[in-house]
Amino acid sequence: MRIAVLSEADTVETRVAATPETVKKYKALGADVVVEAGAGLAAGIPDGEFEAAGATIAPSARDAAADADIVLKVRRPSQPDLALLKRGAVVIAIMDPYGQTEAVKAMAEAGVAAFAMELMPRITRAQVMDVLSSQANLAGYRAVIDAAAEYGRVFPMMMTAAGTVPAARVFVMGAGVAGLQAIATARRLGAVVTATDVRPAAKEQVESLGAKFVAVEDEEFRQAETAGGYAKEMSKEYQAKQAELVASHIAKQDIVITTALIPGRPAPKLISAAMVESMRPGSVIVDLAVERGGNCELSKPGETITTPNGVKIVGHLNMPGRLAASASALYARNIYAFVETLVDKNTRELAVKWDDELVKATCLTRDGAIVHTAFQPTA
Ligand code: NAI
Repeated sequence: MRIAVLSEADTVETRVAATPETVKKYKALGADVVVEAGAGLAAGIPDGEFEAAGATIAPSARDAAADADIVLKVRRPSQPDLALLKRGAVVIAIMDPYGQTEAVKAMAEAGVAAFAMELMPRITRAQVMDVLSSQANLAGYRAVIDAAAEYGRVFPMMMTAAGTVPAARVFVMGAGVAGLQAIATARRLGAVVTATDVRPAAKEQVESLGAKFVAVEDEEFRQAETAGGYAKEMSKEYQAKQAELVASHIAKQDIVITTALIPGRPAPKLISAAMVESMRPGSVIVDLAVERGGNCELSKPGETITTPNGVKIVGHLNMPGRLAASASALYARNIYAFVETLVDKNTRELAVKWDDELVKATCLTRDGAIVHTAFQPTA
């Protein structure tokens, strides 16, 4: 059994899909691990550390991928990557398959078994494989650090001989995994924190972190959580009530961190241009949903902009990649835990159980076809 770890072609991607720690574990499972030269550099892992853990370093992606049974990546393989893989190879990555019909089709045509880690069901057995949580947690932390760096004032209240400076007011929109970590981080820095969400379960979690919950708590709110624990897209009426509440609240905030997402849909627009205009100069918005269309009307993917009224809007791409070493360490463990379920412990060979619920939930393509029901091409 041969496992290949490939470099990421996308320049914004700093993470790597394996670490020396997981290489050792794959070796113990009975695999040979081949790492493309330089794959870990942006995450602070030189080739020598992979080698010391027992991996072989291949000079190119072609050499690394040659004959690999399992290919580990952070992002979906590109067309040139796919051309290097043998038919039947298992490819595991964050596949970002929604709306990417052509890319999913290309993986089917390459004959690989493509697994999308972000589709892992959020059940107890798969918690250790939950890449959405491992990465969102870091993104939420980093969003606050980035906000603090852009903000020209302090977060905690400080009483000094020269007088008192007030605590920053931080508003977190979307209190899922990223939002809860943002709340906790902002609290640790001494800010006064409020947060909102459309799921009722979020209220108690927000309050247990010492933040105040601000939301339109009507009948629709009480029904907003799906069986999977995610938010639904809210009605126009709810959105209007939410916007009214948010508008008066946001005008008094110094920092706004937005994290609101709906699986498979564009991010909800929560902050209008008029709301940005109501904020005082020097305020900062960090939009973690920028890759999915943004929660703020004015945010620009990959850019930090300053509006005419002096509000900074931070739109970093790949927020977990801004903590590449930590993000890779957790992502690599998530992937290892999944791979372990794909290997027969006795024969020490790849033996995918195609009827396992984790496999069924994540497998996009197999034997030349798109097999996932959610991504069937429309005729
Ligand atoms: P997500 O990344 O899909 O969305 C982030 C947050 O935005 C969510 O809390 C969502 O309710 C909120 N949101 C969506 N639309 C909004 C709107 N219009 N206004 C305000 N907020 C809005 O969610 P994430 O972080 O992946 O968490 C989803 C759920 O899954 C949570 O209930 C979380 O506790 C749960 N979870 C369960 C795990 C498990 O293993 N059982 C592991 C991780 C999370």
